[in-house]
Amino acid sequence: MNTKNKVLKALEENREEYVSGEALASLLEVSRNSVWKAIKVLKEEGYLIEGVTNKGYMLKEETDIISSSGIKKYLGDHKDFFDIRIFDELPSTNDYLKAGDFKEGTVVIAKRQIKGKGRLGRSFYSPSDTGLYLSLLLKPDMEVSEATLLTALASVCVVETIEELTGDTALIKWVNDVFFKGKKVSGILTEASMDLENNRLSYVVLGIGVNLTYPEGDFPQDVRESAGPIFLEDTPKDLKNRFVALLLLKILYYCNRLSLKEFMDTYREKSMVIGEDVLIFKAGELKGTGKALRIDDEAGLVVLRENGLEEVLNSGEISVRRTEDRGK
Ligand code: BTN
Repeated sequence: MNTKNKVLKALEENREEYVSGEALASLLEVSRNSVWKAIKVLKEEGYLIEGVTNKGYMLKEETDIISSSGIKKYLGDHKDFFDIRIFDELPSTNDYLKAGDFKEGTVVIAKRQIKGKGRLGRSFYSPSDTGLYLSLLLKPDMEVSEATLLTALASVCVVETIEELTGDTALIKWVNDVFFKGKKVSGILTEASMDLENNRLSYVVLGIGVNLTYPEGDFPQDVRESAGPIFLEDTPKDLKNRFVALLLLKILYYCNRLSLKEFMDTYREKSMVIGEDVLIFKAGELKGTGKALRIDDEAGLVVLRENGLEEVLNSGEISVRRTEDRGK
């Protein structure tokens, strides 16, 4: 860790408190001048740091910049499970993880994505700083056919995080879209690699995109009607770091108890589609209609088709729209 990040870590761990330049210098075993230089760079990056003679430096509560140390301070005993890497810009955080050989628990976050990917070849609008674009690498011991469960698990974690931070209700549109106040505020793209010999997952990349606030100049035309932000104006203090930490802790909690499928009750409760007439799409093409009956134990959607038979839909190959969404 370089001096700047060490100073940031010390200030993050003491937010809203003064830490003297002398204390920082001796804690980090660097000169007072190096501390001063690090503070200068942090300020240039947008950190709100107050410097007062005889008191030292204080990171102000209003600062809302995502950082590894900012997230880790909320992760408690679990902070060492996660290797958090933050980038100003990436094509896609999912692609970054898929291209390398990383350990389980690696988290990649970009402040902006140039080629943010959505499901079914769509793009995910990922402008600077108003959203969270995060991918987490997992290596669960699971059959390939169970991968949909991880998307369901992540959706539940996003819902619970939003509800904890806002006090309002969020819902899930099967299988991976999270809605808040009638608008899509988050999407999840799960990409997996399998071991052909035993049909088990070798790794899974859970890609999660969240719209926290309105992007400058609004959402692009094609998603303006359907997409929305979680927060309109007042955002909670230190929102981004807290959001990511809460989300990661929830994912870890449910993953550690995967066989219990504890998240499935919430997944069903929060479903927006049960009881609805739905349009069924495969590879982007309309294949028919049905009534959404229930969600099965593998997070598949059971629909009653026009021919009176039940069919289980799986996330990988279809998307479902409510009938009134036709034409959107
Ligand atoms: C969807 O709505 O269809 C899924 C959107 C998933 C977006 C996230 S943002 C982080 C990660 N990196 C990507 O390129 N996509 C996912």
